[in-house]
Amino acid sequence: MPTLDERHAAAHATLDAAGQSHVLAHYDSLTDDQKDTLLSEVQGIDWPEVTRLIETHVKQTPTFSIPEGLEPAPWYAHTPRDSDKPRYAQARTHGETLIAEGKVAAFTVAGGQGTRLGWDGPKGTFPATPIRGLTLFACFAEYLQKAEEKYGAPVPWYVMTSPINDAATRATFEENNYFGLDRANIMIFPQAMMPAIDMATYKVLLSSPHQLALSPNGHGGSLKALWTSGAIADMKKRGVEQISYTQVDNPIVRMLDPLFIGLHTLDDAQMSSKMLPKAFPKEKLGNFCMVKGKMTVIEYSNLPDELAEQRTDDGELRFRAGSIALHAIRTDFVETLNTGSQGFSLPFNRAEKKVPFYDPATGNTVSPTTPNAVKLETFVFDALPMTSASVLYETDRVDEFAPVKNADVDGKIEVDSPASSKQLQTERGARWLESRGVTVPRTAEGTVNATIEIKQTTAIYPEDLAEIELPNAVAPESELLL
Ligand code: UTP
Repeated sequence: MPTLDERHAAAHATLDAAGQSHVLAHYDSLTDDQKDTLLSEVQGIDWPEVTRLIETHVKQTPTFSIPEGLEPAPWYAHTPRDSDKPRYAQARTHGETLIAEGKVAAFTVAGGQGTRLGWDGPKGTFPATPIRGLTLFACFAEYLQKAEEKYGAPVPWYVMTSPINDAATRATFEENNYFGLDRANIMIFPQAMMPAIDMATYKVLLSSPHQLALSPNGHGGSLKALWTSGAIADMKKRGVEQISYTQVDNPIVRMLDPLFIGLHTLDDAQMSSKMLPKAFPKEKLGNFCMVKGKMTVIEYSNLPDELAEQRTDDGELRFRAGSIALHAIRTDFVETLNTGSQGFSLPFNRAEKKVPFYDPATGNTVSPTTPNAVKLETFVFDALPMTSASVLYETDRVDEFAPVKNADVDGKIEVDSPASSKQLQTERGARWLESRGVTVPRTAEGTVNATIEIKQTTAIYPEDLAEIELPNAVAPESELLL
C-alpha cells in the first residue's frame, strides 16, 4: 500500500505532465483524510485522455458533418404485417425462453445527475406513480417480481450508479430490504467520472480545496463500468448472455421485453435498440440512421432541418425512428469491446454547463450564472456502429415511454415531467382496461377523467389483467389502484 507521500509524488508528476498542477496547490494545508480524498480522485482520472480532450473539445468546439450516404434505419414494426407474424411469434417465445433460463439480465443506468429534475437524492428515489407515489426503483423491483412470477426464474438486476449517488443508492436498497427481491441477484456498481474544465483557462475545476469538480462520464461509461466493476464476470458466472439496458427515469419501461430480446437474438445482433416514431420532425430524440451499413444515432440537433422534414410518398417522416435509450446488448459484445487489442473508446461530447467551483485565489465557492465549464460525456448509442449487426424495433409510446426528466411547472403540464409521466401512466392504465372491456371516463378532448395506477405486480402486459377481477366501469374523477 503506497504511503500518502508516495501517492502525492505520483499525482504531482501526472498532473504536471497534464498541465494541471494547480490541483495540488493547497495540498499541504489539507488533513490526511482530505489528502486521501483528493489523491483518490486524481488517481481515478485518465489524465492523458483529459489532456487530449482539452485540445479537441475544450479549446475548440468539434464540428459535426453529416456522414455521406446517410439513410433512415429499417425497423421491425410494432404491429407486424401478416407475413411477419410467425417471425414475431417465434421471437417472443425465444425471448421468453431466454428469460426463463436466466440468460437475460436487467440493467438500469442510474449514474446521471438529474439536474433538470432537481430532486435531492438519486433519481431512482423519486416518487413517480400517480396514486401510490411509488419510487422509480420500487417500480422496477415490482416489474422484476412480476417477471419472476411470469417467466418462472429470478432476473439478475444490475444498477449503475456514479460516485455522486452510489452510497445513497446502496442505502436506499438496504433501507427498503432490496424492495423484496433477493439481494444476491442485485449488483450495484459506480461508473467513472470526468473533471469539468474551465472554458477560459482550460484548467480542471475544484469543488473544494480537496475535491475535483467531477461529473459522471455519460451513459456511454456503462460499457466500460460493466467490465471494470466485474458485472460482466458475474453475468458470465450466472450464464447471462443478454443485457436489457434501460434508464432510471421511466416508471413504465419494460425492463425485459421477450419480443425485442427474441428479435435481437434471432438476428444475431450484438446491440439493438427500441425506437418510437417521432411526433414531429425536430422532436428531441436521436435519429436512428444507417451509415455504410452500420446503425448510427444522429442527435436531433445534428440532423439538418431539410432531412428532418423529408417525407416519404405516404406522407410519413422519412427519418422517423427516434431513440428512447432502450437497448439489448450481448454480454460478449461488452467483453469484446473491453478486451480488444486496440482498446475501445466512445466519442466524447462537449456540453457547456454552469459548474460551481472553489476559487483558490479567494477561498470562496463561486456559483456562475452563465456556462463557465465544459463537461465531457460519452453516449451508449455510439457503440452501435461498432456492432456486426443491430436490430431496431418500434415500440408504443403510451405503453413504454413516460420519462421523468424535467421539473414540474405550476399550472402547466411540462413535457417529460412528473405530471406528464403520471398522465401517461393513467392513459396506459385506461387503454389496458378498455382493452379488457372496462368503460373509462374521458373528457371531450379524450383525456382520461380519473387517475389510474396499475401495479407492475398486477400487470406488465394488458393480457395479465385477465387474471384479476376488473370493475365494469371506472367512476369519473375517481382514483383506481389495481
Ligand atoms: P439524462 O441524459 O437524462 O441525464 O440521462 P441525467 O444526468 O439523468 O439528467 P440531467 O441531464 O442532469 O437532467 C439518461 C439516463 O442515463 C443515465 C441517467 O441516470 C438516466 O438513467 N446516466 C446519464 C448515467 O447513468 N450516467 C451518466 O453519466 C449520464
